[in-house]
Amino acid sequence: MPATVLVGTQWGDEGKGKVTDLVSGDFDCVCRYQGGANAGHTVVANGHKLALHQIPSGVMYPGALSVIGNGCIVDPSVMLEELDTLQGQGITCEGLRVSGNAHIVMPYHKDLDGAHEKHLGKNLIGTTKRGVGPCYMDKMNRTGLRVQDMLDEKIFRQKLEAALAYTNPILEKVYELPTYTVEQICETFLPYAERIKPYIVESSKLLNELLAERKNILFEGAQATMLDIDHGTYPFVTSSNCTAGGAVTGSGVGPTNIQRVLGVAKAYLTRVGSGPFPTELSEEDGVGKFLLEKGHEYGVTTGRKRRCGWYDAVVVNYAARVNGLTDLAITKLDVLGGLDTIKICTAYECDGVEYTTVPEHQSVFYHAKPKFIEVPGWKEDISGCRNFYDLPREAKDYIDLIEQLSGVRVSLIAVGPDREQTINRHWD
Ligand code: IMP
Repeated sequence: MPATVLVGTQWGDEGKGKVTDLVSGDFDCVCRYQGGANAGHTVVANGHKLALHQIPSGVMYPGALSVIGNGCIVDPSVMLEELDTLQGQGITCEGLRVSGNAHIVMPYHKDLDGAHEKHLGKNLIGTTKRGVGPCYMDKMNRTGLRVQDMLDEKIFRQKLEAALAYTNPILEKVYELPTYTVEQICETFLPYAERIKPYIVESSKLLNELLAERKNILFEGAQATMLDIDHGTYPFVTSSNCTAGGAVTGSGVGPTNIQRVLGVAKAYLTRVGSGPFPTELSEEDGVGKFLLEKGHEYGVTTGRKRRCGWYDAVVVNYAARVNGLTDLAITKLDVLGGLDTIKICTAYECDGVEYTTVPEHQSVFYHAKPKFIEVPGWKEDISGCRNFYDLPREAKDYIDLIEQLSGVRVSLIAVGPDREQTINRHWD
């Protein structure tokens, strides 16, 4: 099992961190391939809960390498702050590696992110304001600075000068924001560079060497399928390829190395930020409130309340297609316990037409009305179940239905936040 990709199948926050934690023991290396400090995962270090955004959760596993791949963007201030916190808890982070080709999030990227959201008014995307969109814009525009540029002060200054010549007029004239000087940024970034240098590697070379030694790599996706820049609900998406294909371009490993694609889906659905969400329940709705509270659906990065809704089989089925899923992990099944009945969306209706897959046209998706089937719920607390056959019949039927509707086997089921609160059906 040399390479496995782990990917979110919905709009993020599916509990990928818990699933990574569960399966990572089988891997010699965990590599993130896209995104930046917009991701958020909670890890427990020496009994303390820590929220990580930039550093992959792989640093928690002694002996494993934890790689920030070339497809990621790196905010040095966040990375170093997290490094200090982890090291303060006795986590050495000696397995941490950063690709020299990853792009750097600069202070002006964060300014531009916030200003652009303001400019969009009621049409705002609801970004995490971590500078993600503007940083990837500079990457594509070829005006970005990369982690490797920090290795040489002269180059860093030259590239920064060129970047500011382009960015300062935008800050000033478009958004009426303060501009930056090279000196100002160098003052904070050159000391950052000194601290980051020891972690910089040629990550594609490193990952391929590991594969040649028959080592196992887990490619950990951040955000999720429906937030993918190409396959998600554009423009209400993040600015990178979260889907499994991103693991290839975002790491420099060939697609033929990937043997498994594990999709993570919550047993219901949540979304933060704006954009269409056909199965959304209002907060006034009793079930919407129930899911928000029982599922503790508040963002790790921004603390925002997540929008909650019923499980959407059309979305997960679409995720199975665009990622080539081989397995599914269903999380938070325990949260549904106590409901009389549970709904699953199996199709949408728009202008009298039925859609059984996510419609490509955004206005169709926007106006899509969910078609539900309703199945019996269960009252038992399932958080102590460790075997599929221990689950109440209704919970087993719910999982079987998810499997049937997605065409993908459900290999792992999470019934609580702790590592042990898991049912392993097929994962080996
Ligand atoms: P950005 O990635 O900060 O540009 O935000 C773009 C969209 O992706 C917004 O709707 C965010 O709420 C969403 N988003 C970004 N990161 C995450 C995440 O880790 N979980 C869930 N949604 C996210």
